[in-house]
Amino acid sequence: MNAPADSKAAARDSGGRRGFIAAIGGLSALWLSGLLYPIYRYLSPPAETNPLGKEGKLEVDKITPAEVARPGQGKNGGYGGRGLIVLRAADGQLRAFDAKCSHAGCNVRFDGTRMACPCHGGIYDLDGKNIAGPPPKPLTELAVHEENGRLFVTGILRPKRS
Ligand code: FES
Repeated sequence: MNAPADSKAAARDSGGRRGFIAAIGGLSALWLSGLLYPIYRYLSPPAETNPLGKEGKLEVDKITPAEVARPGQGKNGGYGGRGLIVLRAADGQLRAFDAKCSHAGCNVRFDGTRMACPCHGGIYDLDGKNIAGPPPKPLTELAVHEENGRLFVTGILRPKRS
């Protein structure tokens, strides 16, 4: 009987098993993180940045004052490379909302009676309030005004930012 040779072989086997178990553990952790990351992205809203930048004023693209002149009229356009909805409320007030959905950031569409997100079915009322589907917060409401026949976004009304 060769005791030192047997103990070396046993140590080699034990080390091989530990390595195999560590490799399986590592692959399992990788597989699990790949499975959970899309769920995390679906459930967590994206971080917000100030879209108006340092100037605090941006011209509205693709919407003219005439297109939102009467109560009930509204249209999708843009500002600074972002999506925008401008609408004329029933009381005659001109209102604007950043079109970025508070859920995962898709562009919400104005459809005449509400604003709807095409990605996961989120619905907002004409005050920008999230009323159905996964969006966790209202749309960002922007200050908008007409100047020399053009529309400008001039600030963030809601939510307030510091
Ligand atoms: S991005 Fe999911 S509902 Fe709008």
